[in-house]
Amino acid sequence: MNIDLDGMTALITGGAGGIGRACARTLAEAGARIAVADLNLAGAQETVAPFQGIALGCDLADPEDAARTARNAEDALGGVDILINNAGLIVYCDGIQGVTVDSWDKVLDVNLRAPYILCRELLAPMKARGRGRIINFSSMAARSGAIDAGLQYACSKAGLIGLTRTLAKEGGPYGITVNALAPGIIATDPVRAKVGDREADYAARIPLRRLGQAQDVANAVLFLASPLASYITGVVLDINGGMYMG
Ligand SMILES: NC(=O)c1ccc[n+]([C@@H]2O[C@H](COP(=O)([O-])OP(=O)(O)OC[C@H]3O[C@@H](n4cnc5c(N)ncnc54)[C@H](O)[C@@H]3O)[C@@H](O)[C@H]2O)c1
Repeated sequence: MNIDLDGMTALITGGAGGIGRACARTLAEAGARIAVADLNLAGAQETVAPFQGIALGCDLADPEDAARTARNAEDALGGVDILINNAGLIVYCDGIQGVTVDSWDKVLDVNLRAPYILCRELLAPMKARGRGRIINFSSMAARSGAIDAGLQYACSKAGLIGLTRTLAKEGGPYGITVNALAPGIIATDPVRAKVGDREADYAARIPLRRLGQAQDVANAVLFLASPLASYITGVVLDINGGMYMG
């Protein structure tokens, strides 16, 4: 069975990065028209280039910029059917004393406030069209407590679960599904930098004995964005090789 997103549109935030790029390309390969919004405009342009997609430079830490980005994507795509709130800061720090108020604010602004603003701007037009898919990027850190990631990171990702479930209730009557993904250890640049030459040690703690790949996550995004998942809403889907089973 092929998943066909022909005629659908998708906005992927953070699509210049590891997981976001895999999601954007996977949705585009399934037929969706894509827009990628990222602080890294050149990276966003690189992601969309093979698909004639739309690249939007933005700083989602700025609430005005986040709202403008949502509206620009809505205009450029003629409506956003699928919103992937993937942009995020992965922050590592040791213990609560290692968290500064500045870092708390920055992480919460990007990881939690920006998805709230994008949802706020795009849910109303989705309701008007009577369809929509929203996928928020939580984390295993929110499910099991952070291992390496900082407290502020885990809190931002836990907040996304509340956002997801609340909007699933609001969007459901309009045919809109809202779900969250909770990836474990996915081998993207920031994670590789942290793991270094200890990949085998990390893999030994994972039942499937390997780190996740960005494509493992993109496959789940494709499923949740597709008609196959039309009766699934308000879930938090773990993608962690069995490292945490909630
Ligand atoms: N990699 C993992 O192991 C893992 C695990 C759990 C959750 N996640 C989540 O998955 C998402 C993607 O992670 P990744 O590993 O691909 O990270 P990444 O760093 O490769 O990509 C993140 C992207 O977000 C963009 N971004 C960051 N701040 C931004 C801002 N203020 N405005 C606009 N764009 C901004 C970056 O430019 C980058 O392109 C994040 O939300 C992350 O928290 C990742």
